[in-house]
Amino acid sequence: MCGIVGYVGTRPALDVVVEGLARLEYRGYDSAGVAVLADGESDERELVTAKRAGKLVNLRNALDETPPPAGTLGMGHTRWATHGAPNDRNAHPHLDCSGKVAVIHNGIIENFAALRAELEENGHKLVSDTDTEAVAHLLEDELRDGGTLADAMRRVCGRLEGAFTLVAVHTGDPDLVVGARRNSPLVVGVGDGENFLASDVAAFIAHTRDAIELGQDQVVELRASGVTVTDFEGRPAEVKEYHVDWDVSAAEKGGYDYFMLKEIAEQPRAVADTLLGRIAADGRLVLDEMRITDQELREVDKIIIVACGTSYHAGLIAKYALEHWAGLPCEVELASEFRYRDPILSRSTLVIAISQSGETMDALMAVRHAREQHAKLLGICNVNGSTLPRECDGVLYTHAGPEVAVASTKAFLTQLVAVYLIALYIAQVRGTKWGDEVFAMIQLLAQMPEKVEKVLETMEPVRELARSLANERSVLFLGRHVGFPVALEGALKLKELAYMHAEGFAAGELKHGPIALIEEGLPVIVVVPPRARAVLHDKIVSNIQEIRARGARTIVIAEEGDETVEPFADTLIRVPAVPTLFQPLVTTVPLQVFACELATAKGHDVDQPRNLAKSVTVE
Ligand code: AGP
Repeated sequence: MCGIVGYVGTRPALDVVVEGLARLEYRGYDSAGVAVLADGESDERELVTAKRAGKLVNLRNALDETPPPAGTLGMGHTRWATHGAPNDRNAHPHLDCSGKVAVIHNGIIENFAALRAELEENGHKLVSDTDTEAVAHLLEDELRDGGTLADAMRRVCGRLEGAFTLVAVHTGDPDLVVGARRNSPLVVGVGDGENFLASDVAAFIAHTRDAIELGQDQVVELRASGVTVTDFEGRPAEVKEYHVDWDVSAAEKGGYDYFMLKEIAEQPRAVADTLLGRIAADGRLVLDEMRITDQELREVDKIIIVACGTSYHAGLIAKYALEHWAGLPCEVELASEFRYRDPILSRSTLVIAISQSGETMDALMAVRHAREQHAKLLGICNVNGSTLPRECDGVLYTHAGPEVAVASTKAFLTQLVAVYLIALYIAQVRGTKWGDEVFAMIQLLAQMPEKVEKVLETMEPVRELARSLANERSVLFLGRHVGFPVALEGALKLKELAYMHAEGFAAGELKHGPIALIEEGLPVIVVVPPRARAVLHDKIVSNIQEIRARGARTIVIAEEGDETVEPFADTLIRVPAVPTLFQPLVTTVPLQVFACELATAKGHDVDQPRNLAKSVTVE
């Protein structure tokens, strides 16, 4: 949700901030705004703000029309609206009554109504409908009591409930940008004579790859000369410095019209990178960052996976792999539901949290709930320095590189690789499969980048099909076994990108209700299991015949050489033959391409679909 950038240094702050916002626009695009402290000699500087509803381009146009005065300290915000409509008035930054304090915010301040009422009673005039504006006025009061903006921020944070990343500037502290975080992301970029704050390193990667990970409940004081981090009580805090292992080219479109197209194309490389360094010369798996000992893994008696959206679909596929290879009972939970039930956890439960961003609030809350029940926690995450890995006992990073498009593609495939690695690793440690069986699977897994590449080379007919279906109202997806989560993922992609009714079903459930939806010409995409799974394969071939007999237009995804499906497929999409558990790596790709092309044909912005944001940092 919302993207945040802060800068202090020697360059024109506005350029740095707007460029950073462009890289963070995937986080929210309801409005955008900036604040700059104008250059000058005096101790008190002019504070200039500009903000516009809609995408960043609207703000850029406004800034071109009325350029603000030059300044080397500034901040910017791109919004995904929570409190208050997405209009100019509710766009950030928000100011106090004096116009000397500006604040931007990501998250939700849950006690804002009480704070707002108190402020209004004390004579403050609030002009927006947001929770954020209360913070600007609270800072105003605290500054009146003395101290720097950082002192005021620490005191204000003590009064806030909920999730927040806050960044503030004050006309009386002309070399200071202050940031604070609780339950929302904020990273520091460390430059030479300049420093950066952002929700994501992508915002400053063009300037520095040295970053500092901020912990929970910390306040950062950013000056051109250095960075100081404390907790909310003002005690010096321990911070973790790290070097970002990708560069600015990874955060750019690289000649593609959309990030999503680039990210789909990058999948063979992303899969290969996620395998890299994890298979030792003797063929055994080595997962160094797991930080959960072999003994602890031997003591595990149950696995629970928590995740949201596409990551949840990766979790559903993980269940099949973990039960099959690791021989452990496995449950998969929507992270948003998990802590509101009474899940049965113990010290011998392993909870695996899957999150591309590592910032999804529902996933973080599920992890915290599991921690309270003393479960072991393992994260699967794509973003180094994000919150989720820090809160888990161990982590397996997916090396997909930055995923900018809101619809998850390459992160999903690498999450699958990560869950296969974990399941095979547990099998190796616990001896639930013979060493040569695990070894053989690892060898086959290592071949998957070229299989994914092969799928990508044959996607033109899928694109044509997508264009031909652009005016349909509804598309159904069917699958069995690991093809069922793939069907769910195909439907999710189509919903979020094409805004079409799309549903994924377990094919075996068809006759329990969904078959009533079938009508003349309805497109139904069916993911067929490999022939090696003969029983499942034959059953789904019967399902295809049943829906076709009732008028469905059958679009069948089947492995090369599977001739049995040919007579019943109106359109046949071939994928390479791979082991059953790995099949989602090749069957998901046509569904991503399909949704992307269909949405493009409808004229949608596939990188920034309506109403969505890349990371959901509020519950
Ligand atoms: C998928 O295309 C989505 N945009 C969304 O479902 C996403 O997977 C979900 O919000 C979880 O995000 P995370 O992996 O960053 O936790």
